[in-house]
Amino acid sequence: MTVPDFIRYKAEGRKISVCTCYDASFARIAAATDMDCLLVGDSLSTVIYGYDTTIPATMALMTAHTAAVRRGAPEKMVVADMPFLSYRTGLKDAVENAGALLRAGANAVKLEGLSGNEEIIRYLTESGIPVMGHLGLTPQFYHAFGGNKVQGREEKAAERLLEHASAMEKAGCFSMVLECIPSPLAGKISRELTIPTIGIGAGPETDGQVLVIYDLLGLSGNFKAKFVRKYADGTALFTEALNQFHKDILSGEYPSEKESFSK
Ligand code: KIV
Repeated sequence: MTVPDFIRYKAEGRKISVCTCYDASFARIAAATDMDCLLVGDSLSTVIYGYDTTIPATMALMTAHTAAVRRGAPEKMVVADMPFLSYRTGLKDAVENAGALLRAGANAVKLEGLSGNEEIIRYLTESGIPVMGHLGLTPQFYHAFGGNKVQGREEKAAERLLEHASAMEKAGCFSMVLECIPSPLAGKISRELTIPTIGIGAGPETDGQVLVIYDLLGLSGNFKAKFVRKYADGTALFTEALNQFHKDILSGEYPSEKESFSK
């Protein structure tokens, strides 16, 4: 999968599969699957580091995790999130930070929102850095939105999202995440754009779907969102394995002779 494949798949009506990935172990597992693309999301701030929002994610964290994912999945398409404010302090900072993510192994970067970002998107794409946009519930706007809320429900907000999506495409984005917006609006945006839309909580009419890997593998504790489908009960599986290990240590069942060095 490459950046041009994104556009080609949309033209062919072939859906695109994306999941987040944050480290080499999960990247190795994902690398051996049919998944099209791995997203090193700034959601690592909440998923891996236990913060409440994505705002604490830094360039240092994003580059380290991007490099780890690349080492685990040398051949996969990898998109890395540009963290909070890393592209808002001027074109020079934006291109340096995006460049650092590409040098760490990403094929493309993702950034949130349109307002104030058009020139940045143009500059990055003209510098050879493919950009994925992100509209709707953009988690870096947590405080501005007053929480994680579905966006684009009112007519005016829906029109604005449609305009922003079209402007993002014109600025040069090769694809776009649409997060937590009503399905009919996501469908309308997807039909109007030539670049593919990747939905999360945006219904079935987007050109692809993305989920956080810990959510889809059932490793997110009590976190529950309407749009998450659990494809495995990872928590139950790992809990059982750890309890079995504990039991085997106490009973002397582990380690066996085969698991020990005789000399
Ligand atoms: O950071 C992230 O995981 C994301 C996805 C939810 C699209 O941006």
